[in-house]
Amino acid sequence: MIRSIVEGCGAYLPERVLTNEELARKIDTSDEWIVQRTGIKTRHIAADGEFTSHLATKAASQALERSGIAAADVDMIVLATSTPDETFPATATAVQANLGMTRGAAFDVQAVCSGFVYGLSVADSMIKNGMAGTALVIGAETFSRILDWNDRGTCVLFGDGAGAVVLKAGQGQGTAADRGILASTLHSDGRQHDLLYVDGGPSTTRTAGFLRMQGREVFKHAVTNLAAVVGETLGKACLQADAIDWLVPHQANKRIIDSTGRKLGLPADKVVLTVDRHANTSAASIPLALETATSDGRIRRGHIVLLEAMGGGMTWGANLIRW
Ligand code: ACO
Repeated sequence: MIRSIVEGCGAYLPERVLTNEELARKIDTSDEWIVQRTGIKTRHIAADGEFTSHLATKAASQALERSGIAAADVDMIVLATSTPDETFPATATAVQANLGMTRGAAFDVQAVCSGFVYGLSVADSMIKNGMAGTALVIGAETFSRILDWNDRGTCVLFGDGAGAVVLKAGQGQGTAADRGILASTLHSDGRQHDLLYVDGGPSTTRTAGFLRMQGREVFKHAVTNLAAVVGETLGKACLQADAIDWLVPHQANKRIIDSTGRKLGLPADKVVLTVDRHANTSAASIPLALETATSDGRIRRGHIVLLEAMGGGMTWGANLIRW
């Protein structure tokens, strides 16, 4: 059986760090409020002229280098983003050109904060059916460009960044002992549009628009849906929650993450947390967290790693991986 094995991770964060204290000097908020409600202390903000494709290219280059794979050998780039450089072409094609690739396929996936989980699932399916042998899956965002910086309910929550993984086809026995992506689950419910959306777009307002959110409602849906999708995904691989070595959740809010960890009965030291430093980087948050926990030696070969995310749409999903 073909399995998609993670060969390496990369990440990139823009240089500029924006602290809660700086935000509190511009809008009616405080470090205490932000930390208490979300766990966020700082976030990175892209410089003028620094685009999503630039962040993505840097993360992808690092992932390729660490995997020992040349860009010329990549068959497919799947880039998850809700903040593309332009309406079209896909930002993935800019990354393809930046990496010097002259072959393969490159396209974007749009599932907001669940984008990386969606992208990984798409790439895994294409590897399994023989469409690609090596794939770059990237999550990259410049959410700072779609925030209403006068709306204290949303602008304090997000940051910019990019993360990437290289997937390579390998052989497995079709059991949970295999290395690679063991199971994935994707869901969406378009009826929940109004909970989290951007109030613009090429076909409606002809502008990019700003992010709008009903925070409390999103919070409730996240806690319920994430616990359910994690159980569903573990079930597909015939594993229980106690098999998880590392939970790598979408980094939206420390309280949502703590609640999911508690529901799974996982101790806090099995949960990778980067939201304090990165804030919510949407599709980039999971690969950024993966890069953090692989670089510092927490996630190691053979570990069972569970990724889960929820975002606008609403969309939500999970991937179960043996590293
Ligand atoms: N600083 C100070 N006060 C604030 C701020 C702020 N930055 N933002 C809102 N407030 C105020 C509100 O105006 C309100 O004041 P009022 O009582 O005088 O009207 C009060 O704080 C409470 O507002 P709520 O929105 O009810 O606050 P809540 O406790 O729900 O926390 C938060 C808000 C942090 C957004 C929370 O709802 C949340 O985390 N929701 C999840 C949203 C999320 O993570 N979205 C990310 C995308 S989806 C995903 O990734 C899962």
